[in-house]
Amino acid sequence: MATHKIALLDGDGIGPEIMAEAVKILDLVAQRNEIDFELVHGAFGASAYFSHGDSFPEETKKLCDEAAAILKGPIGLNHEESKKIPVDMQPERGALLPLRRRFNTFANFRPVYLPQSLAHFSPLKPEIIGDNGIDMIIIRELVGGLYFGKKEMGVNAEGKRYVVENLEYDEDQIANIARVAFDTAQKRKKVLHNIHKSNVLKSSVLWNEIIDEVGADYPDVKVVNILVDAAATYLCLNPGQFDVMVMENMFGDILSDQAGGILGSLGLMPSACIGPEKAYYEPSHGSAPDIAGQGIANPYSMIGSVAMMLEMSFGMEAEAKNVWHAMQEVFAQGNSTPDLSKPGAGVNMISTSAFGDLVAAELAKCPKV
Ligand code: IPM
Ligand code: MG
Repeated sequence: MATHKIALLDGDGIGPEIMAEAVKILDLVAQRNEIDFELVHGAFGASAYFSHGDSFPEETKKLCDEAAAILKGPIGLNHEESKKIPVDMQPERGALLPLRRRFNTFANFRPVYLPQSLAHFSPLKPEIIGDNGIDMIIIRELVGGLYFGKKEMGVNAEGKRYVVENLEYDEDQIANIARVAFDTAQKRKKVLHNIHKSNVLKSSVLWNEIIDEVGADYPDVKVVNILVDAAATYLCLNPGQFDVMVMENMFGDILSDQAGGILGSLGLMPSACIGPEKAYYEPSHGSAPDIAGQGIANPYSMIGSVAMMLEMSFGMEAEAKNVWHAMQEVFAQGNSTPDLSKPGAGVNMISTSAFGDLVAAELAKCPKV
């Protein structure tokens, strides 16, 4: 029997609750496919700082090194609680960015998927969503740009506090993410929206040059260049025009959250972070400390991340589709959780774990592959 070791980094806030539902699905997938997932939990995030004095402890690094793939929950604390942790140990800077850097997970896939069964969550009018719903994928460069560039803070000659952060890319970094984006577009509708800001930023001038160069190898893919600020508007006004979008790190951070907004919740945004040798999978949202521990968070983004892991790390494409289908079914039957829907929204309101149970029950009904 094939065995895959998976590192589970529960994270903070709602992380452990939604991870428990992901584990339910992984256990069922293992049973259905006669494979063995060795699931090992590792401390990560603010909770790890308080238990181990380190938000990305050495033993977790070792676990991730050994694992075939990593499933990570959301991390972080609220603004006030964060201040209890030294700035460089705060989970975003002390754990998440080092995780991305360690495995060079440069290619971040963020599907923005709103089939009819989820359309009622969206704040967009039905005529904007259209009959086919929304189905696009944001490809975000994840280990370069401003987030990883050199930083400097200090007091200048005039006695004023100042800060400098560099947006750095070299041509190889851009070409790598460009190839991932063109490959993805080639497998889908053969249209790639390149998001940039070349009317102001030199980084975008180089970015666009490389997109053109790499694009020469993909004559069947049409490239549409859009300024990032305009793209933000089009995402609201006409999201159906997009299929695959590619952009640098910070643009992707911001536009993918906006995409969560057009779905109706970041809770509907799973993601995959792919490096040359290792990948990790995570919800695109934060740890929602305000609702942690209440059993009201929807596990969609965490279970969706499992589906992406099955497909992208273990080549289990058909079973991944089954997991997506099972989640859609649970919504289509009128179920929801309190984080996604308000009382009186005409849905059957259930808890995090009840939602996971229903997804498991639907998955169990899918023919084995
Ligand atoms: C995301 C998050 C992270 C990011 C934070 C938590 C550092 O917002 O994955 O989008 O900015 O990349
Ligand atoms: Mg973000």
